[in-house]
Amino acid sequence: MSREQLIEMALNNKKHSDAGTQEYVDNIVKIPAINYYDREIWQKEVDLIFKRTPLVLGVSKEIPNPGDYKSIDVLGIPVLILRDSKGDLRAYLNACRHRGAPLVENGVGNKKRFSCPYHGWTYDEKGSLIGISSQQDFGDLDKSCNSLVSLPILEKAGIIWVILTADSKVDMEKFLFGYDGLLEMFNLSDWHVFDTRILKGPNWKVAYDGYLDLYHLPVLHSETFGKDFSNQANPYEWGPHQRVSSPSMVISSSEGEDLIPDYNTINDWPLEHLMGGVWTIFPNVSIASFMGGGRSILLSQLMPGESPDESYTTQYYLMENKPTKKQEEEARKQFDFLEYVVEVEDYKTGIRLQKGLKTGMIKDVLFGKNEGAGQSFHGWVDKIINTSDEDLPDLYKD
Ligand code: FES
Ligand SMILES: [Fe+2]
Repeated sequence: MSREQLIEMALNNKKHSDAGTQEYVDNIVKIPAINYYDREIWQKEVDLIFKRTPLVLGVSKEIPNPGDYKSIDVLGIPVLILRDSKGDLRAYLNACRHRGAPLVENGVGNKKRFSCPYHGWTYDEKGSLIGISSQQDFGDLDKSCNSLVSLPILEKAGIIWVILTADSKVDMEKFLFGYDGLLEMFNLSDWHVFDTRILKGPNWKVAYDGYLDLYHLPVLHSETFGKDFSNQANPYEWGPHQRVSSPSMVISSSEGEDLIPDYNTINDWPLEHLMGGVWTIFPNVSIASFMGGGRSILLSQLMPGESPDESYTTQYYLMENKPTKKQEEEARKQFDFLEYVVEVEDYKTGIRLQKGLKTGMIKDVLFGKNEGAGQSFHGWVDKIINTSDEDLPDLYKD
């Protein structure tokens, strides 16, 4: 089914490529410039989008074995993700029920149980409190009422989603609108995590706009990779998640050469030829394929920073196979290149454009008929912000 969808999209791209067109939306849309710098609006986005929406917090391969855990702070919330002895993932607030101390420092590791470094209370993989230090002195306490606070978690397609609200009613599978079936085709659960890096960037929406935008490629990236790229894009949507794919017929061979594919043989195409473009996961992830050191993927996960003016992006460089020494060198070069493109071309431009917007002298920014992906993204941002907690689960219905 998913492969059929990929073929359908490739044929639609070809149709546009032959006609020299792309998918258009009806109108040019104006977005208030204040949406990119106003503190109140930004705070709403953090509270009502980031803290209520399933967020990608990692990939399965970071914690592949029973007992593996990953501990991170997300928007100031300490989160502990662990793989239990059955192989299922669980997520908890990394805060002891005695007086809130974190059970583990941020990072990855492997543990069967978690003993709090403050007074030594102990929890098992199910988050149950199983030991109170010197309980005869502490007093009677019902342990079963003092488990770790559990957070909703979902693992699909080798990707880990968590909701930062303990009692969220959002159905995470529904939130994916079947998009996970396509992400599954990347086969990420088997891929090797080669390296990760963190980059500082502009307002999270400025950055995300850029991931959805192929219009800028031949201009902003003319000095690096964009010169020969088309500025056209066909967006495909699954709820708020979008793939943007060039109508261009050129695809890369596994040796990295450009090929004009034969569409008569499309049913036999290798998967990587069907997976091009940028795959975004709302509200903050983009995935794109490369060939540095063998088949590889850059998964970028954006998080708002401390103010509307900043965000942080964790870049994961994932490889189909563990690289040999020589491939490692190529992969490193490719990763350096991608970091450069994002940091020095995309994010530097983003940080500078915010200055212009913050003057307040430009009231609106514009998204053209060829920028339907950006229009749709801002539509979802508005929709979610204006939806109450009770009605939120209903947004994610087909
Ligand atoms: S805060 Fe954890 S045991 Fe006291
Ligand atoms: Fe870019």
